Amino acid sequence: MLEQYKLVMPKTVYGGQNAINNVREIVEDVKHVAIFTYKSVYESGLINPITDILSEKNIPFTLFEDLPVEPTYLQAQEVVDRFNSSEADFIIAVGGGSVIDVAKLVSVLKTDRYTVKDLLETPDLAKKTVRTLMIPTTAGTGAEATPNAIVTVPEKSLKVGIVSNEMIADYVILDAEMIRNLPRSIAASTGIDALAHAIECYTSKKANPFSDLYSFGALELIIKNIEAACDGDMNAKSNMLLASFYGGIAITTSGTTGVHALSYPLGGKYHIPHGISNAIMLMPVLRFNEPYIRPLLANAYNRLWPFGNIENDEEKSALVLDYIERIIKNLDIPQSLKSFGINEDDVDELVKGGMEVKRLLVNNMREITEADARSMYLQVL
Ligand SMILES: NC(=O)c1ccc[n+]([C@@H]2O[C@H](COP(=O)([O-])OP(=O)(O)OC[C@H]3O[C@@H](n4cnc5c(N)ncnc54)[C@H](O)[C@@H]3O)[C@@H](O)[C@H]2O)c1
Ligand SMILES: [Zn+2]
Repeated sequence: MLEQYKLVMPKTVYGGQNAINNVREIVEDVKHVAIFTYKSVYESGLINPITDILSEKNIPFTLFEDLPVEPTYLQAQEVVDRFNSSEADFIIAVGGGSVIDVAKLVSVLKTDRYTVKDLLETPDLAKKTVRTLMIPTTAGTGAEATPNAIVTVPEKSLKVGIVSNEMIADYVILDAEMIRNLPRSIAASTGIDALAHAIECYTSKKANPFSDLYSFGALELIIKNIEAACDGDMNAKSNMLLASFYGGIAITTSGTTGVHALSYPLGGKYHIPHGISNAIMLMPVLRFNEPYIRPLLANAYNRLWPFGNIENDEEKSALVLDYIERIIKNLDIPQSLKSFGINEDDVDELVKGGMEVKRLLVNNMREITEADARSMYLQVL
């Protein structure tokens, strides 16, 4: 556990029923809004309550309704350029991690002094010039809470995180109506992403008292709600949105580990959606880490399943891992790389890509060598 730690968070977070109505007070001193979203969300009418408020208050807005899913850094730069030729002085991002991450980058790129590519090399250049409101429509990445923006770098066949506290949201709205009609498969895979954030941050070398509070809070909410949320229960969905946000806070003060590190090349080269690639890598990495994180998993057992009379840490830890594995299976998330056209010949490149994600590998309690990474990719072929 770290001896020194810090937590930076969005300034104002609104949650609960009809939380979306808080847009009214947030935009009080705004001159011109840019609304960032993508097609599925635009077509579902989810931004209507926002545009209604803006129209009622006579605040002009420009719609960017075609943002890319899992953007490359060049696609993110294109949005920056379009935004910079608009009149907008405030961004409302309504979408999953893909939309929110682009909004974060744009918020520090109303300048001609540096580009997204420059931030990949030198994130410290970032200076916020545009305020942001993030409204997640998946639960999820927790991107609305974090200082990270993840972009694909095709030259490296990798996803890379740009991290700067300057990109943290000014406002966040967590309103479960935004995820009411999320297709089950997306609810399932994005929910497992949140689960990965919770358990990785809880078992990370960077875990600390702040992250423990949030990662454990997220873990508990997810274990108790993910299946009901995927089956449409609104109370469970509301809890998942909260859990996803908690997971984001945990990422900010702790950090994800081997699961996310090994999943990045799956997204970067083979375009497997972020939630699915984490769902595929979660169990192999947790089982590999188990001897090193056993007391933590046993502690999770004690807190989440207090009725059992098992004394032995090894047994408790095995039960927790079996439970998580069962949840992933029940949610019908693809579990093999072959279903994405990946085979033995691709494993060398996956290993090379995974080993490059040192930013996250260093957080893993058990050192992951090239041979270990290879063995874990082979397990999920
Ligand atoms: N910044 C961070 O801290 C952080 C953390 C984890 C992941 N990420 C990044 O976030 C991205 C993934 O984000 P995501 O998992 O939220 O998904 P996403 O934003 O990529 O969206 C996934 C799909 O869901 C659809 N969708 C989203 N909301 C919907 C809704 N309410 N109704 C119907 N369809 C909807 C989208 O159109 C898209 O096709 C990846 O690029 C990942 O690397 C960022
Ligand atoms: Zn993630």
